[in-house]
Amino acid sequence: MLLLRPCPSLHDRVPSTLTPRAPVLPSTQSVTTEKNKLYYGDNLEVLRLHVKDESVDLVYLDPPFNSRQDYNVLFAEKDGSQSSSQIHAFEDTWEWNIDAMRAYEQIVEQGGRVADTMRAFKTFLFNTDMMAYLAMMAPRLVELRRVLKPTGSIYLHCDPAAGHYLKI
Ligand SMILES: C[S@@+](CC[C@H](N)C(=O)[O-])C[C@H]1O[C@@H](n2cnc3c(N)ncnc32)[C@H](O)[C@@H]1O
Repeated sequence: MLLLRPCPSLHDRVPSTLTPRAPVLPSTQSVTTEKNKLYYGDNLEVLRLHVKDESVDLVYLDPPFNSRQDYNVLFAEKDGSQSSSQIHAFEDTWEWNIDAMRAYEQIVEQGGRVADTMRAFKTFLFNTDMMAYLAMMAPRLVELRRVLKPTGSIYLHCDPAAGHYLKI
C-alpha cells in the first residue's frame, strides 16, 4: 500500500522536502519491493520522484475542492466534548496568480491531449479561480494516470462544480 499524506504547508506552494517522518527511498526502484510506505509532502513531487509507471492498483484521491473555505482540525476534550482548541489545516481557495500561471504553462508545454484540453478550458474559463484549480489538479491527474496499472482504478472525490472539468 502506498499512502500519500498532505503536508500542512502545502498551500504555501513551497516545494516540499520530505520530512523526517517520511521514509525516503534510495531510488524509485525501491517502490516495487517495499510496501506499506507512507509519504508526507506534496503529492506531485512524491509521485514524480518515487512512484514507477503502471505500479499502482488503486488510487483514492480526496483533493481540495475549490470550496473557497478554510478548514480547521477540531480537537476533543478527554470526555469527548468538543474543545475550543483548533488548528488551521488548509485553505481551499484558489486564485489565478503566478503559481497558477506557471502550473498552467508547464502542463501546456508538455503538449498532447491534456495540453489541448487545458488550452480549451482557458478559452472560456479565462484566468479564473476554477482555471487555477484545474491547473493545480491537471499535472497531478497526469501523474496518477501514469502510475496506475492498466488494470488499476482511480476514485476521485470532488465537487460537482469541478467534476465535469476533471473528468475531461
Ligand atoms: C478535502 S481535504 C482531504 C482530507 C482527508 N481526506 C482527511 O480526511 O484528512 C484535501 C487535503 O489535501 C491536502 N493537499 C492539498 N494539496 C496537496 C498536495 N499538493 N499534495 C498532498 N496533499 C495536498 C490538503 O492539505 C487537505 O488536507
